[in-house]
Amino acid sequence: MRKKIIMDCDPGHDDAIAIILAAVQPQLEILGISTVSGNAEIEKTTENALKIYDLVGLNNIEVAKGASEPLVRLRETAPSIHGESGLDGPEFPEPSRSWSDKHGSDMIINKVKQSEKPVTIVATGPLTNVALALTKRPEIKENIAEIVIMGGGTFGNWTPIAEFNIWADPEAAKKVLDSELPITVMGLDITHQAIATQEVIKQIDSIDNPVANIVSDLLAFFAHTYKESFNFNDGPPLHDVLTIAYCIAPDLFTLKDVNISIETKGEYTLGTTCVDLLGVTKKPINAKFGVELDVEGFWKLMIEAISKY
Ligand code: BDR
Ligand code: CA
Repeated sequence: MRKKIIMDCDPGHDDAIAIILAAVQPQLEILGISTVSGNAEIEKTTENALKIYDLVGLNNIEVAKGASEPLVRLRETAPSIHGESGLDGPEFPEPSRSWSDKHGSDMIINKVKQSEKPVTIVATGPLTNVALALTKRPEIKENIAEIVIMGGGTFGNWTPIAEFNIWADPEAAKKVLDSELPITVMGLDITHQAIATQEVIKQIDSIDNPVANIVSDLLAFFAHTYKESFNFNDGPPLHDVLTIAYCIAPDLFTLKDVNISIETKGEYTLGTTCVDLLGVTKKPINAKFGVELDVEGFWKLMIEAISKY
């Protein structure tokens, strides 16, 4: 039986590569793709999802445009990292199709309700759509197997201690982390282990197919902004891709059971994931937190996947 997943995302270079990895996996069934405002405004992230949809040859999968704003705060996007379009770098043809007429959060609700098997939600942007779905229809929890999140960590990339996805909608993140569902969190601690080094980029460049060419262009742009913004000289981290890699090959990951609380009030700490690695709070475990990646195994998986196109 294939694992049924819904991808909730804000493409985004690494979101795009996560879709590329997922689309070619026989063990995954993508039930739908919902988009959220994050790396760019919602129209842009949705167009970007549709461009990748065409690129990887997906068929008959609903792409639903979701939240254009965080639950209670003002929207902020990340052009310094992903460019004005949210997916700067490669040239794409205009998308061949449009988004569905359902809101992303309603698509999540419908797909979860209709599925005969519990669904895994893979969330790689701000958690607005997922929080909305859980708020509107809490009963869908019964048919959610797991929520796999890219977000947070024990340090930050948008403020000194907050990561972009959680910082962009901390109230939504709190709703999700407090949901008592099985949750796996790939934060910066583990995603910064998945660096697309020159060696990796050479390997991808040597795969001559249209998807590999786009991945190369995406990584070239991403490498540039990571160098400019964060002084990353070895290459950019493929954050979001780890969520899909985890769905396919959990053995590549060392996880720790922890409590994670989301800071929604702090003057300097807004959007922080307070990851209780030592169990000092004695609060109940609410997440598995990624601590170590089998880096070689991860890139092997990636290269094999891209070569399949
Ligand atoms: C996260 O923020 C976005 O820039 C990426 O797509 C990723 O989801 C990393 O902090
Ligand atoms: Ca993302």
